[in-house]
Amino acid sequence: MTVTSGEDKIKWWKAAKFGMFIHWGLYAALGRGEWVMYELNIPVRDYERLAETFNPVRFNAKTWVGLAKAAGMKYIVITAKHHDGFAMFRSQAEPFNIADATPFGRDPMRELAEECREQGIVLCFYYSHVIDWHHPHAVHNKYNNVWDYDTDSKHFPTYWNGLVKPQIRELLTQYGPVGLLWFDTAGGLSKEDSEELVELVRGLQPDCLINSRVSHYPGMGDYQSKGDNEIPMYGEDSRIWETPMTLNQSWGFSTKDQVWKQPEAIIRKLVHIVSKGGNLLLNVGPDAGGLIPDLSAERLREVGAWLSVHGEAVYGAGASPFPYEMEWGSVTAKPGRAYLHLTSDNWQSELRLYGLKNKVNQAYVLSDASRTPLETAQSYDAELDHHTLAIRLPDKPANDCMTVIAVDIEGELSVDTRVSQQPSGHVKLEWANGRIDADAKTVEWSFQIVAPGTFDLELVCFQKEGASWDEAFREGVEAASGNQRITAQPKPDQVIQNSTACQHPYSEVHSHLGTIVFDRPGTCTLSLRSTLIRPKSGFTEIWQADPVKLRAVKLVKRQ
Ligand code: GLC
Repeated sequence: MTVTSGEDKIKWWKAAKFGMFIHWGLYAALGRGEWVMYELNIPVRDYERLAETFNPVRFNAKTWVGLAKAAGMKYIVITAKHHDGFAMFRSQAEPFNIADATPFGRDPMRELAEECREQGIVLCFYYSHVIDWHHPHAVHNKYNNVWDYDTDSKHFPTYWNGLVKPQIRELLTQYGPVGLLWFDTAGGLSKEDSEELVELVRGLQPDCLINSRVSHYPGMGDYQSKGDNEIPMYGEDSRIWETPMTLNQSWGFSTKDQVWKQPEAIIRKLVHIVSKGGNLLLNVGPDAGGLIPDLSAERLREVGAWLSVHGEAVYGAGASPFPYEMEWGSVTAKPGRAYLHLTSDNWQSELRLYGLKNKVNQAYVLSDASRTPLETAQSYDAELDHHTLAIRLPDKPANDCMTVIAVDIEGELSVDTRVSQQPSGHVKLEWANGRIDADAKTVEWSFQIVAPGTFDLELVCFQKEGASWDEAFREGVEAASGNQRITAQPKPDQVIQNSTACQHPYSEVHSHLGTIVFDRPGTCTLSLRSTLIRPKSGFTEIWQADPVKLRAVKLVKRQ
C-alpha cells in the first residue's frame, strides 16, 4: 500500500478497506481488557508495579505484520498509549514507557515500523489523548482516576503540554511516515485544544490522517470513526467512515472472553461495510507474552484466504449503488462491474435483483477461474418502471463463506434508487432512508411495492447489553399508511442471531407491531412515530450510542 500525499492523502485508506486494530498494553498482564485499571480502581503505584515484570519476549514484529498481511489487511493501528497512560514506545516525555520501565527494554513500535515498511503495510498509532489514569493532571469529562487524584486540583495544561504534545511529536518523528493517528474518547476537550492537536499533527506530518475522535466537536479529523462495533445504515453518513470492531467482545487481551466471531461472519460484515462505503478496523488483543491469540490468528487467516480470491470485489471497490440492504448479502461495485456477495444461508437456484437498469453482458462466479457464464435474464415492467435481473446460480455455494457473482454491465452503473420490495416479498425501511421530522418525532418512507399483499410490521431495534427496553419504550409507537393506523407497545419479541449490521454490545431485536395491507403495486408510503427518533444530522456524531437505537421497520409479506 502506498501512502499518497496532498489532496489525495486519504486515497490509500479509502482503497484499503480492511485494517488491523491492535490493543496491546500493560493491561494485557491482567487479562481482563484495557479498562481494568479503571474498573478495579487500581492505584497508580500498584499499576506501575506491573511494568516491573512486563517482559513480552515472544513479541515478534515480523509475525504480527505477517499475520495482518495474511489476513488481507492493509494497515495496522496499534495502541501507542491507551487510557492507562503507559507508552508502548520509547518516550523521553514520560518514563512510564515500555522501553524504560520494563525488563523488556525494547521499543516494539520501532520494530513494527521497520517490519511494516518491509512488508508493505501502513503503520498507524492509536493515542488516548484525553483519558489518562496515570497522569495526575489528565482531565476527561467522565472517566478519571478519582481514586488517586483529586479532580478539582488538576491543572490540565501540565498534562497537555507536558505529555500529550511531546509524545505526539515523538510518534511523528521517530518512526517514519505514520498513516494515521487514531485518537479516542475526547470528552471534555475544548475545541481550541483539539484544533491545536490537529495543527501539531499537520505541521509534523501533513499526510498523516486523523480520525474524528480527536474531538467531540462535529466534523473534525479526516474521516468518521463510528461508535465501537457500530455499522451505520445506507445513506446515514456524509463523511468517509470506518467501523472499529472486536473479534471477540473485548479490545485488550482477555482470558475470559471466548466469544469469537467466525470467519464467515467477519467476511459478511466486511463486505457489508464496504457496500456502505466504509472501512473495517478489526481488533486483536495480544497477550502479555507478546502473542496474538491463536483463535484470533486462525480466523484472520481464513478471512485472508477468502480475500486472496475475492479481493477484487473489496479493495478499491465502491459502495453499493442501491441505498438499502439486500436480504441475500451485499453489493459492491467497480466501473463496468457489480459484485453480488451472497451468503450461503438459504441458497437458491436463482438470484433475483431488482432495479439494475444496465444491460448485463455476462455474469460469473468470481472464484471460477474459467469464468463459466451463468445464465441471466432481464425484464422490464413499463407500468411499474421496474427492472428485474435473474441469475441462475450454481447448485451449491462456491465456498462456505461468501460466493461472489461478478456482473459485467454495459456503460456506467445505473440503478433505480427508490427503496424497493425485495424479491422475497419483504421490505426493509431504515431510518436513514426516510424523511425524518425530529421535532414531530416521525419518519416517513416511500417505497416500491411489486407484489401487494398483507404484511406483518416489525420494528427493528439495536439494544445495548444491559439497556432497559421498557425504559426506552415508555411511550408506544404509532405506524400509519393512508387510513390504516397501528398503535403498539413494542415488546422484544425476537433476538436475531447472526445479524450482519449488529454485534456485541448490541443485539438486533424485532418487535411485532401489527399487520398492514398494501393492496396495489406501485409507490406506497408508511410513517412511524416514536420518541426514539433522532435527527439525521445527529447520526454521524453519536459514537457513544443510545441504549436502544431504532433502526428500521420491516414489512414481512404473508404468504
Ligand atoms: C473505546 C474504549 C477503548 C477502545 C476503543 C476502541 O473508546 O474506551 O477502550 O480502545 O473504544 O474503539
